Amino acid sequence: MKKCNKIIEFIKNIYKKDFIALHEPIFIGNEKKYICDTVDSTFVSSVGEYVNKVEEKICEITGAKYAVAVVNGTNGLHLALKVVGVNEGDEVITQALTFVATSNAIVYAGAKPVFVDVDLDTLGMSSKSLRKWLEKNAIKKGNETFNKTTGNRIKAVVPMHTFGHPCRIDEIKKICDEWNLELIEDSAESLGSLYKNKHTGTFGKVGVFSFNGNKIVTSGGGGMIVTNDESLAKRLKHLSTTAKVPHKWEYFHDEVGYNYRMPNLNAALLLAQLENLDKFLRIKRDLAKRYKKFFENIGIEFINEPKNAKSNFWLNAIKLKDINERDEFLECTNNNGVMTRPIWTLMNKLPMYKNCQNDGLENSRYLEERIVNIPSGVVV
Ligand SMILES: Cc1ncc(COP(=O)(O)O)c(C=O)c1O
Repeated sequence: MKKCNKIIEFIKNIYKKDFIALHEPIFIGNEKKYICDTVDSTFVSSVGEYVNKVEEKICEITGAKYAVAVVNGTNGLHLALKVVGVNEGDEVITQALTFVATSNAIVYAGAKPVFVDVDLDTLGMSSKSLRKWLEKNAIKKGNETFNKTTGNRIKAVVPMHTFGHPCRIDEIKKICDEWNLELIEDSAESLGSLYKNKHTGTFGKVGVFSFNGNKIVTSGGGGMIVTNDESLAKRLKHLSTTAKVPHKWEYFHDEVGYNYRMPNLNAALLLAQLENLDKFLRIKRDLAKRYKKFFENIGIEFINEPKNAKSNFWLNAIKLKDINERDEFLECTNNNGVMTRPIWTLMNKLPMYKNCQNDGLENSRYLEERIVNIPSGVVV
């Protein structure tokens, strides 16, 4: 690919390194100080002041009323699905163009995913495709919705804000309300991203963020569940702490719970990272602007933030002409110290999800062959 060397030169000039990762964490704040605090206090496990502090901080950042810190985003999605009432044998609608954790969490909750298409501009769930699929395949009975083909109950919808670009979440919410479906936002990638000035993750009944090492801020591993519903928040905290009924010494658990609570050690790292979130967002938005200008000049489409959205530009992406150009680009950049990655293989192509229903996935298939992520870490 002719333009590849030019692109490598541009990226190396930004990062000024021989090897450039797709997304590296950076620690330029109170990370060491807070971690040492937890060690000195001995509170390194799942009780401690940092866990409470990061929950408060996420409420402040997102505007959500309640936040529950958990060990990772996948487990956060699992619990979210459980508390909204997804049960064994239910179906949950999501997108095929996502990281595998979205679908895995649906299966952990005992349900089966159904895949609908994404929009070409947002790369996230298409509200039009969702409506179309429901009108063709679903039927309402009383307050519930069922799949006409399988007879199973459809309980929830899980859209994902791909690479931090918000999808048309207000329209998706409207459709969920019309069909009595619970809306859970997989916001794993979109901390700091707004849609119509409202934080992603706060449109649905529950939203889930990830703090994996590759995200905009990290706790090593970790996740956060947000909701405005007090009773759901209480249940999320209860379930994430082995469903233990609080008591000074008795071990009484009133249902099968999970050991999903975020340890204080991870929360300490996260608090220090969150203190720099605004700075990271500024730097990442600035980097995206530079990329956009550069790629426009050389005639390659850069994935920009959608209309009505303010994106965190977690992972920058470009759209290449076809799969051959994509593979040439991946080969050339990765062989020359610039890490790039294709977008995910569609879920319906993975062995465990190949029998799940889908709507044809026209846009998803088109994007799968063309979208590539380029280095996006915060430039220091
Ligand atoms: C879209 C999406 N969903 C869920 C997850 C799961 O998060 P975690 O890795 O914290 O389990 C991730 C990221 O890792 C993700 O990108």
